[in-house]
Amino acid sequence: MQRFLISETAKHVGQKVKVAGWVNVRRAHGKILFIDLRDRSGILQCVFVPTNKDAYDKAQDIRTEWVVELAGQIVSRPEKMVNANIETGKVELSVEEVNVLAKAETLPFDVTTDGMEINEEIRMKYRYLDLRRPRLQQNLIMRHKTVKFVRDFLSAEGFIEIETPMLTKSTPEGSRDFVVPSRLQPGKFYALPQSPQQYKQLFMVAGMERYFQIARAMRDEDVRGDRQFEHTQIDMELSFVEREDVIELNERMIITIIKTLFPEKVIQEIPFPRLTYKEAMETYKSDKPDMRKDKNDPNLLAFCWVIDFPFFEKDDPASAQGSGEAKEGGWTFTHNPFSAPKPEHMQNLLDKKNIGEILTTQYDVALNGVEIGGGSIRNHTAEALQKVFEIMGYESKEIHEKFGHMLDAFSFGAPPHGGIAYGLDRFLATLLNEQSIREAIAFPKTGDGRDLMMQAPSEIYPKQLKELHINVNQKSSHQAKTEQKMKRRNIGARRNQKLKIKKRS
Ligand code: AMO
Repeated sequence: MQRFLISETAKHVGQKVKVAGWVNVRRAHGKILFIDLRDRSGILQCVFVPTNKDAYDKAQDIRTEWVVELAGQIVSRPEKMVNANIETGKVELSVEEVNVLAKAETLPFDVTTDGMEINEEIRMKYRYLDLRRPRLQQNLIMRHKTVKFVRDFLSAEGFIEIETPMLTKSTPEGSRDFVVPSRLQPGKFYALPQSPQQYKQLFMVAGMERYFQIARAMRDEDVRGDRQFEHTQIDMELSFVEREDVIELNERMIITIIKTLFPEKVIQEIPFPRLTYKEAMETYKSDKPDMRKDKNDPNLLAFCWVIDFPFFEKDDPASAQGSGEAKEGGWTFTHNPFSAPKPEHMQNLLDKKNIGEILTTQYDVALNGVEIGGGSIRNHTAEALQKVFEIMGYESKEIHEKFGHMLDAFSFGAPPHGGIAYGLDRFLATLLNEQSIREAIAFPKTGDGRDLMMQAPSEIYPKQLKELHINVNQKSSHQAKTEQKMKRRNIGARRNQKLKIKKRS
C-alpha cells in the first residue's frame, strides 16, 4: 500500500490508508490508546482499540519519537472530539496494522514545544532533533520557498545564476578572512569569500549583463543574534543600469515575495520611503532605522532605503580588522571600495579632493530596524577605482598586487554596472518573527563560533598539518583555549548574576 502524507488523509474518509512518521504523543484513555503521529506535513490522531488485537498489543510498547508505520481506516471524529486547530482535526485513523520502523531512546528535550525554553547549547548539540519541532521545520520550508521564488523571479527578469569559487583571494569587505592553507603552494593561503563582489563584477566585464546567485559568504567576525560566520546572500549584479533601475527591480521583487509567500504581512509604505544617511542619523540615530508606526504589530513590515552615505571615513586603528586593507589613521571605505561616488562627486574622487564630503552611490535596505541588504553602482573605470585605493593609502605596487586583475579587467571595456546583496538569513528571521538568525538557519554556529553537533572547529592530525606546511604554536593555542574557557565562564557567571538580580527584583 502506498504511503499517504498526513495532510492528505482528511480527504480520504472511509478509505484504508498507510501513514508513517514519529510518535508525537502517546496517551491512554480507559482501554483505548491514542497516538498522535507526526510527519513533515502535520499531525494525525491514531486510535487503537482492543478489538483490533494485534495492533493494540503491539502499540503497548510504542514510546514517543519511535518511527512507525500505521495502516487502517480514516474515520470522521465524533462532533465533540473535533480539533479545529489542526488540518486533520476532523478525522482519525482507526489502526489495524502496526509496523515499528525504528525505536528511539528518550530524547534530551521535548520537540513538541517551540523550544525557546531549552538551553541553546543542548539544542545545538542535538540540532537534528531540534529540527524536528514544527516551528523550525516551517522556517526551513519558508526559506526554501523564498529561495525558489527568488530564483524564478530573477530568471524571468533575464538573470542567470552562476556559481563563484569558494577558494579565492581575500576580498576587502571590512571583515577578517577565513583562510585555507594550500598543500601544493607551501606557505600560501586561499581566502573564503566574504562575498562574490569581485567575481560578479567580472561577470559584467564578461558580458553576462544580469547575474544572480544564492551565495554563501564567510566572515570571521564576532557572532551575534544577527551575525554568523557564514551567511547566505541573495546576490545580484546588472549592467547598463543606474541606481533607480536597481532599486525599482528590487523593490518589486521584495513586494512580490511578501505578497505571495507571507500574505499575512502588511507593508507599511509603498514605494519604500527613502532617507539620506544624514536624515536617518538625525531622526532615528541609526543608519538602519526602525520606521514601524506600531512596534507591537508582529505583521507590520516597514522597509526603507538609506542612501547618500559618505564614501570614506577616517580609519579607526582600534577597530582594524586584521585583513590589512585599511591603512592606520588614513581613510577607509564606509561600505564597499568598489562603489562609485555619486556622479556629482566623481571629480572630487578623481582629484582626491574634499574626501570627507564625497558621497557614495551605496543604497542599503532596512526592514524593521535590521539591515537586510545593500549595494551600489560601481566604479567601472580603472582610473576611478585606482583613486579609491590611493585615497586609502595604498602604494601603486600594492594596488597592482591586490587588485591588478580588476584594473586589468576594467581596461578591456567594462560596462557601467551595479548590484545588491541581501542577507537572506536576516530577511527571513525578520519575516518569521524570530529574534535570532540562528532560528532561520539549519545548522548555525553558537555565539562563540562553534558547531556543537559536529564539534568544529577541531584539531587535525599531525600528518595533515605537515602536508599543509603548518606548525601550530602549542603555547599560544593552549593560551587561547584557556582564554576562551575563562570568557565562557565569565559569560556564565554574568548570566547567573543577571538571573539572581532578576529574581531579587
Ligand atoms: P554587505 O557586506 O552589506 O554587502 O552584505 C550584504 C548583506 O548581508 C548581510 N550580512 C550578514 N548576515 C549575517 N551574518 C553576517 N555576518 C553578515 N554580514 C552581512 C546583511 C548585509 O546587508 N558585496 C556587497 C553587496 C553589494 O554591494 O552588492 C556585500 O556583501 O544583511
